[in-house]
Amino acid sequence: MTEPKKLFIKTYGCQMNVYDSERMVEAMGAEGYVTTEVAEDADMVLLNTCHIREKASEKLYSDLGRLKPLKAARPDLKIGVAGCVAQAEGAEIQRRMPLVDIVVGPQAYHRLPQLARGTGPQVDTDFPEEDKFDLLPARKARRGPTAFLTVQEGCDKFCAFCVVPYTRGAEVSRPVDRIMTEARDLISRGVREITLLGQNVNAYHGHGPADQGGGDWTLARLIRALAKVDGLDRIRYTTSHPNDMDDDLIAAHGDVPQLMPYLHLPVQSGSDRILKAMNRKHTRDDYFRLVDRIRAARPDILLSSDFIVGFPGETDSDFHDTMDLVRHVTYGAAFSFKYSARPGTPAAEKPDVEAEVADARLQELQALITSQQRAAQLAMVGREVGVLYEKAGRQPGQMVGKSDHLHAVHVDDPDGKVGELVRVRVSGSATNSLSAVRIS
Ligand code: SAH
Ligand code: SF4
Ligand code: F3S
Repeated sequence: MTEPKKLFIKTYGCQMNVYDSERMVEAMGAEGYVTTEVAEDADMVLLNTCHIREKASEKLYSDLGRLKPLKAARPDLKIGVAGCVAQAEGAEIQRRMPLVDIVVGPQAYHRLPQLARGTGPQVDTDFPEEDKFDLLPARKARRGPTAFLTVQEGCDKFCAFCVVPYTRGAEVSRPVDRIMTEARDLISRGVREITLLGQNVNAYHGHGPADQGGGDWTLARLIRALAKVDGLDRIRYTTSHPNDMDDDLIAAHGDVPQLMPYLHLPVQSGSDRILKAMNRKHTRDDYFRLVDRIRAARPDILLSSDFIVGFPGETDSDFHDTMDLVRHVTYGAAFSFKYSARPGTPAAEKPDVEAEVADARLQELQALITSQQRAAQLAMVGREVGVLYEKAGRQPGQMVGKSDHLHAVHVDDPDGKVGELVRVRVSGSATNSLSAVRIS
């Protein structure tokens, strides 16, 4: 018997890339490849890249640089670049890094096996008519009780700073029946929690099944259908745009018990002037009203957000508006980034805020977010929550999982098993996790 070929894959960027990497592993599995954790052992190295900020895409070039000796020693080693940098800079990658054999954009992954079989440089950065998901092999083995499921791809919003509409293409929603089939299949393999993914997931509008009248379904309708599937205990979704939170989706947070009380709802800035310059198409007051309605539907929901500081033209007063918005909303967690000018986006034409000013603002905002995150964790102490065990903890007899509110929780539970959904009482709060005692 010949040894199977080995694939080393490294994933950068967002959850959609994590999901895509799983699907690419499965596609190459059908070609006889098994995965390896060691690049030196691999017959093929695949880097699934992110283009969102300059630092993210520069990582690709330094990682490729490190692969040079490996490729020199073994010229038959195949090196592939997938993901958003591949889409945005395919030609540039091949010019700067001739060691790269394959460049494949996010909408062309179903063609990866064919590209890997080819000789000489292979590039595919089309936005083909066919849906890659229909042409990728069905899902295979599952590793744990939680899974991502991409339901929507691409973005039509064109925020002035963002590369996603260019790297992922226009918004496309997968049909409901395909999603339901994939969900049932994941559940049959032990998955109890599914996170529905999309760059703009709450803009979902996929074709409904013919036997249910067809038409376009909203994300809320999809969630309500998933909630009826036996064995699916938890549903989450990410990432959402404030302008696509419709009434039914808000209501679902109040009346679908499987929909978990955590919502990532990026606002980016608290200044109306900056929101306008960012092309976000909503005001800070719109966002406040939205948050009030979501909290009315589900009072204990934890909110998170993304923020960009140092967007071109951001003044001290604009930044204070952002700090004020954060104080007003109160987040359970949030991510903040220093603005990074991205080639080809409208904002990249405008002069940057001074680096030291942007750095200072980032620190100030992060300190505030950290204090809110701590407070949200402390407020959980004494409360009873659900935890889905994902793995054994570092201490003997300890299990680790996520709470309903997406906190990492450590539970002393020598009899606990991965995949168990248990009730616990939170007993303490550490820097990035909670500790708890099992009560059921
Ligand atoms: N679709 C999601 C965001 C995807 S990108 C949404 O609309 O919310 C994830 C985050 O990266 C964004 O929310 C934004 O905060 C940040 N980001 C995107 N482009 C950026 C840039 N050019 N500079 C700095 N941060 C950026
Ligand atoms: Fe980018 Fe999100 Fe804006 Fe789309 S909605 S352009 S993905 S930040
Ligand atoms: Fe990055 Fe592309 Fe995701 S740019 S954040 S990997 S959609």
